[in-house]
Amino acid sequence: MKDFTFYNPTKIIFGENKTEKVGNYLRGNKTLLMYGGGSIKKNGIYDKVINSLKLNNINYVEKGGVKPNPILSFVRETINFAKSEKIDAILAVGGGSVIDSAKAIAAGYYYENDVWDFFVNKAKIEKALPIYVVLTLSATASEMNSGAVITNEDTKQKFNINADSLFPTVSILDPVNTYTVPNNQVANGCVDAMIHLLEGYFTKNYENTPIQDGFVEVLLRTIMFETKEILKNPIDYDARANFMWSATLALNGLTTAGIGNYGFPNHMIGHSLSAIYDIAHAHSLSIVFPAWLKYNFDNKKERIVQLGKAVFNESDAEATINKIISFFKSIGVPTNLPDANIDKKDIPMIAENAVALAKKWQLNDYTVEVIAKILQLAV
Ligand code: NZQ
Ligand code: ZN
Repeated sequence: MKDFTFYNPTKIIFGENKTEKVGNYLRGNKTLLMYGGGSIKKNGIYDKVINSLKLNNINYVEKGGVKPNPILSFVRETINFAKSEKIDAILAVGGGSVIDSAKAIAAGYYYENDVWDFFVNKAKIEKALPIYVVLTLSATASEMNSGAVITNEDTKQKFNINADSLFPTVSILDPVNTYTVPNNQVANGCVDAMIHLLEGYFTKNYENTPIQDGFVEVLLRTIMFETKEILKNPIDYDARANFMWSATLALNGLTTAGIGNYGFPNHMIGHSLSAIYDIAHAHSLSIVFPAWLKYNFDNKKERIVQLGKAVFNESDAEATINKIISFFKSIGVPTNLPDANIDKKDIPMIAENAVALAKKWQLNDYTVEVIAKILQLAV
């Protein structure tokens, strides 16, 4: 096992009817309540949250309208709003896009200059507002990690920030809140959580990590199994609960503690697809990952076989890749660029875009040429 520091201060309140209790956990004088395009108003989560805030005499102002693949202009505008309202906490009610926007706003609140500085390493996040979460969609694990991803629409960069101060203080994980997540978003959550697990599994630089491999494999089996159960019956509580906790554990630091250096190359390339074409994060990953595996076939063959045996009931590497692709197809996500109507003549442009993030993440082997070769395997 490699040396590691594991730090995760987020308090998780998990279970049915926990949304109604959110007001008990909030601290502060004035909270900014943030949400997305309105699903929480249709499914009743908004009313539950507001009732709880009122019951606990919590002052709040609201900002809805976060869009999937959240954008910088909205973050900037909301920072100004938050400053003018003198808020001292943020309550994010939503999926990754709402939580990530809340994190960027929480960091930008205490910063004099442009919040984008944090994303391009021009400034370091020293302080952030406390963030509270009511999770409505399981996918990203943003509810229990210190990262956030925002797209700069002007520069077409989808970049991230990371800081200890961005861990949510409390996250409410009520599986019932995800009953209304439509099938396509369930599939997206499944793919995202799977790739979070697989990035570390395939890029770690230390062999003897049975605990971490075991975590990854059991989480993958659970996520894939429960996805199928949810697609059959969206109000299966246990399936929603198992899926929810698995997705959170997939990117809260647990599975990568002790594996040494690892990277997120599929996310690096995928973020460019979302930045340029505004496709769902999960679709960018279901397109890139099979191609990335094919590109790395020779040097990752043993690992592919390990994955095949542990998760896909398969002992052949090539057949394992085919089973991953079949699984993706069976849940309705794209598995190559044409599936997402992306023209292969764009590959050099996508690779140019992606290499900026490769540099930021110090994925130094990923030159424009290498990224283009990987994308060529996705046509
Ligand atoms: O906007 P509303 O109306 O709420 O609808 C949303 C949105 O349209 C809908 N939805 C959410 N909860 C629902 C629901 N619909 C019905 N019932 C519910 N209970 O689902 C749609 C997608 O929501 P979004 O928040 O965009 O999805 P997700 O959670 O997958 O977040 C994706 C974003 O997170 C980033 C991605 O890049 C992407 O921008 N990621 C964040 C990470 C992190 N912070 O650690 C890591 C990931 O790798 C990822 O990059
Ligand atoms: Zn992801």
